[in-house]
Amino acid sequence: MSFKVMLLPGDGIGPEVVDAAVCVIDKISNKFNLKFEFDRGLIGGCSLDQFGVPITDETLNKCLMADAVILGAVGGPKWESLQHNLKPEAALLKLRKSLELFANIRPAKVYDSLADSSTLKSDVLRGTDFVVVRELTGGVYFGTPRGFDDNRGWNTMEYSRYEVERIARHAFELSLTRGKRVTSVDKANVLDCSQFWRKIVHEIHKDYPEVTLNDMYVDNAAMQIVRNPKQFDVLLTSNLFGDILSDISGIITGSLGMLPSASLGKDHALYEPIHGSAPDIAGQNKANPIATIASVAMMFGYSLKNYEAAALIEKAIDKTLSGGYRTADIFSQGTVLLNTKEMTQMILKNIDEISD
Ligand code: IPM
Ligand code: MN
Repeated sequence: MSFKVMLLPGDGIGPEVVDAAVCVIDKISNKFNLKFEFDRGLIGGCSLDQFGVPITDETLNKCLMADAVILGAVGGPKWESLQHNLKPEAALLKLRKSLELFANIRPAKVYDSLADSSTLKSDVLRGTDFVVVRELTGGVYFGTPRGFDDNRGWNTMEYSRYEVERIARHAFELSLTRGKRVTSVDKANVLDCSQFWRKIVHEIHKDYPEVTLNDMYVDNAAMQIVRNPKQFDVLLTSNLFGDILSDISGIITGSLGMLPSASLGKDHALYEPIHGSAPDIAGQNKANPIATIASVAMMFGYSLKNYEAAALIEKAIDKTLSGGYRTADIFSQGTVLLNTKEMTQMILKNIDEISD
């Protein structure tokens, strides 16, 4: 039986980093004797240019039929001023909603070899290893009514019980495989929706007595991530807060170009780098493919339950960085600058070296 992967390279550097992902999947499938079947579709600005919509029903259906979706990035200045439902971002939101990918997993792990290249102090960063569990199909991103007219703009922040319950369970379960600590991030001092969130999270916590739960306001959490990131194990939060906190986490690990993500639902899964489409370097073979390659590692773990393959990819990334190899975004004095393709090849070579 083959594993069906739907590739959605998207805009900007998306196609380059998705190419890197395919190289890594090919390498692993040879090593582990696995069969993959690939299909491709357009998403974002490129789909809009070709079909007049940022994602077609046909592409959406192919994603629904796939075992996993790998996405590069969407968006760019060319499409920024379009109305809401035509924007490239709308396609991503539609995809998440249609596939019911309610749990967005964004690990923030500091590679030892990169701790010195961050703008933050390396002793604050070293040893940081936490995961943001972001609710992805609800909250103010999707609440209605929404809109704006000449005098007013409005959105609705709303969570139903089942939405908070399932994401809370997901976070508690994940914490059981790690440090057994969950920090639930909200704004319960101001928002009713957050008060409700907090209440439900505590109800679900009763089923996980071995997990320590604490609550934190989002403004404080933003500060704490920068002040002392090592204190966190699992950060559980809503859609908007998770969006913001995961970018902050990005800088903790040195570069957004390092951060992978998995978006999981009951029946579907999507893997994508956290970074955007980086139109300024698109097509120049300069992008850092590591976030996408690390997203592939997450796919082997979460979707294929092949933890050996996942660990092998992660180790190969680690070895490549320890060897002093860098793309432009993480380059520093005394390291070796590689382009996208060279970095990918180096990681493939290290996969071979580690597994032989
Ligand atoms: C992300 C992005 C998206 C989001 C945009 C592109 C819709 O910023 O995945 O974090 O806000 O969720
Ligand atoms: Mn974001």
